[in-house]
Amino acid sequence: MNGASNAETVLEVQDISKNYDQFSALSNITFQLQAGEILSFIGPNGAGKTTLLKILSGFLTSDSGTILIHEKDLTNQLNHLNALVSTVFGGGTGFYKSASVQENLNFFANLSGLKRAVKSERIRQVLEVVQLSDQKSKRVSKLSMGMLQRLHIARGLLKESPILLLDEPTNGVDAEMSRDIREVVRQIAQKGTAIILTSHILHEVSDLADRIILLNHGEMAFSGDLEAIVEASGVTRIDRPATLEESYLGLMAKLGGAHG
Ligand SMILES: Nc1ncnc2c1ncn2[C@@H]1O[C@H](COP(=O)(O)OP(=O)(O)OP(=O)(O)O)[C@@H](O)[C@H]1O
Ligand SMILES: [Mg+2]
Repeated sequence: MNGASNAETVLEVQDISKNYDQFSALSNITFQLQAGEILSFIGPNGAGKTTLLKILSGFLTSDSGTILIHEKDLTNQLNHLNALVSTVFGGGTGFYKSASVQENLNFFANLSGLKRAVKSERIRQVLEVVQLSDQKSKRVSKLSMGMLQRLHIARGLLKESPILLLDEPTNGVDAEMSRDIREVVRQIAQKGTAIILTSHILHEVSDLADRIILLNHGEMAFSGDLEAIVEASGVTRIDRPATLEESYLGLMAKLGGAHG
């Protein structure tokens, strides 16, 4: 992270809660995010990570709590949140399969209001960042899973937002490309973008994250840096510090099991 001491607070989330009918998906989520910081949410399937990202990016309303961006209250102002927060959800959907990579990016660039004068240069840049320039004429239906995941990231980078949310960005991506994506994420943060990352790949989290929040059943079970989470878990190894994965499993066992 750049200049931690004088970093500006980009995002302030206070007591966000969300129920799906009677089910509490998120409960009193509170944190701040600085420019250039990478904050990672980890936790078992169903913990509420994607739900939180959807609320922050204006795809879903919260039931209570506040979201401030640059000190402005934008809680449940879905259009404003959408404009300031770029999101990469990944997965198999979200593109026109029979159109090319470039045509898809062009469509989403238009949708996000990118000016004609800068659009093609921006598309060229994002394709270069995710190393898809040589695939730009390929139909999306012909892309491999890793290429598709990189296209999702390219789409997320089209508008240069102060906040970037990445939901499992390297899911299904091979080891080399995962490493390259991590490097891209690091570079984006170094330029001052505030990043929230969710991942089940815990070595990726320990490699990238300045701070980690563990979600369990929609609640914040832990918040701190890598050293703090290792310490809080109580997991020790004789020959080396415990890894994030070991610490995570230790903490989850303390909390009563990942799925129980
Ligand atoms: N639209 C919905 N309606 C009802 N329940 C939902 C809805 N979306 C999510 N949920 C529930 O909310 C909980 C949190 O889901 P969410 O997708 O946020 O978890 P997650 O932490 O992202 O999990 P994963 O690691 O599997 O991606 C889950 O129990 C899920 O079944
Ligand atoms: Mg999820």
